[in-house]
Amino acid sequence: MYNYLSTLNVKKETKTIFWGVTEKMEDNELAPIINELKLRKKVTSFGEVTDYYPLQDFSCPKITFIGLEKGSNFALKDIYKIAAKIAKSIDNDSVICLDSFSTLENNHDLLCEKFIEVIELVNYTFNNYKTNKKEKKNYTISINSKSDVSKAMDLGFINGDATNHARDLVNEPRNKMTPAVLANYAENLAKKLKIAYKIYDKPEIEKLGMGAFLAVNKGSKEPCKLIHLKYRNGASNEITTLVGKGLTYDSGGYSLKPKNGMAGMKGDMGGAASVLGAIEIIARKNLLVNVDVVIAATENLISDDAIVPDDIVTAMNGKTIEILNTDAEGRLTLVDAVTFARKNNASRIIDVATLTGGVVTALGTEITGAFTNDKEFLNLVKLASEKTGEEIWELPVEQFRERCKKSEVADYNNSPGRDGHASFGAAIIREFAEDTPWVHLDIAGTSSKQSSHLLGPEGATGIMARTLAKVFE
Ligand code: BES
Ligand code: MG
Ligand code: ZN
Repeated sequence: MYNYLSTLNVKKETKTIFWGVTEKMEDNELAPIINELKLRKKVTSFGEVTDYYPLQDFSCPKITFIGLEKGSNFALKDIYKIAAKIAKSIDNDSVICLDSFSTLENNHDLLCEKFIEVIELVNYTFNNYKTNKKEKKNYTISINSKSDVSKAMDLGFINGDATNHARDLVNEPRNKMTPAVLANYAENLAKKLKIAYKIYDKPEIEKLGMGAFLAVNKGSKEPCKLIHLKYRNGASNEITTLVGKGLTYDSGGYSLKPKNGMAGMKGDMGGAASVLGAIEIIARKNLLVNVDVVIAATENLISDDAIVPDDIVTAMNGKTIEILNTDAEGRLTLVDAVTFARKNNASRIIDVATLTGGVVTALGTEITGAFTNDKEFLNLVKLASEKTGEEIWELPVEQFRERCKKSEVADYNNSPGRDGHASFGAAIIREFAEDTPWVHLDIAGTSSKQSSHLLGPEGATGIMARTLAKVFE
């Protein structure tokens, strides 16, 4: 729980106090303590956390000082670093004295929004199945500032909370997160956000002719679902459609993944989680835009019905695709999702997908790969990502289009080769986007972490939920 405090009596306060310290001489009630501490240790070094337990004069159990002194200029990631220090230290009802952190960022609204966003993200736990639950921090946190930051507090909470919902979806295993469960979640979310939605069942998807998407579903006994959410709050007719890859499990199909490559594939709906997180942020902030979400949800498994290499499938737009590798399934679902988006009046499309191991080889686990047919549009997404700290890096797509069309028997093939395969994955989706401005974000490396990190524990990161929402702010 969070609340705003316009004034603070430092001596009488009974909660833990968080205070930012620099080399500058302090002129406040804490000055004697800070000056004393400065003589003994480097309390002001950037990121240094010093717990002080007052024995007299103060009513609070603890004052936590955070060092803010840094040689170079402050960047956004410094705010995140300091916020993460605070978030990790909170173990009690606390007051954060925001104004003492002003050297980090003059804009108190921005500072406050980030602090609360990060407190939510850092203290996330996925607790659904442990008998002995991991401890969940549950404290009241007050923000004290001369400027009224109560609006910013709400915004920060929404950013963190919705991202954590996206994380929950990804962390759920396959046996708990089927296409039907994901569709049900999306339906409930739409109802809660009071936005229009339609969930298409398998027979309806067949009627729509989404042959590439349906092909992936053939190996699974769980029927596929097509999820379509529509948020309408903009003055113009422009609709931005967020398409998320929704593979609730990817075994590879008959082009079976080796056992080490299969573990973790419960997270192959990370793109779906991101776009659901994004629309949640957008709707809860009541942004004045029109945004759709489209998710083609299915598993990629094996049965005697499953697709095999050599099969030819017909996509929703009538084009045929030769299957060379059943593990290149994401693009089969995405090309139909993109066609569906275009048929439903998308003015521009962003797709988010855990699409290729290739992007992990190219960019690692901190940077998301970006591809586009419209540099200006990608620039908007880049600017947004700079404001959330979720780094993206452009990779080429144009040069890879030709080889997607290389097939003796069909219009396209789904797996042109392992050289540059992040770009090949993007290139076939680009074909189906045609002239609609389109950005593709490959989050295969950034969607889940193998160990705990600055903004959260091991597991799902909820990557791109905040960035996608930021595009519209
Ligand atoms: N879901 C995977 C990509 C992936 C890999 C996501 C690692 C997260 C972590 C995707 O469907 C896939 O299997 N891609 C293949 C493409 C290949 C067959 C062209 C890959 O990356 O090997
Ligand atoms: Mg695959
Ligand atoms: Zn996949």
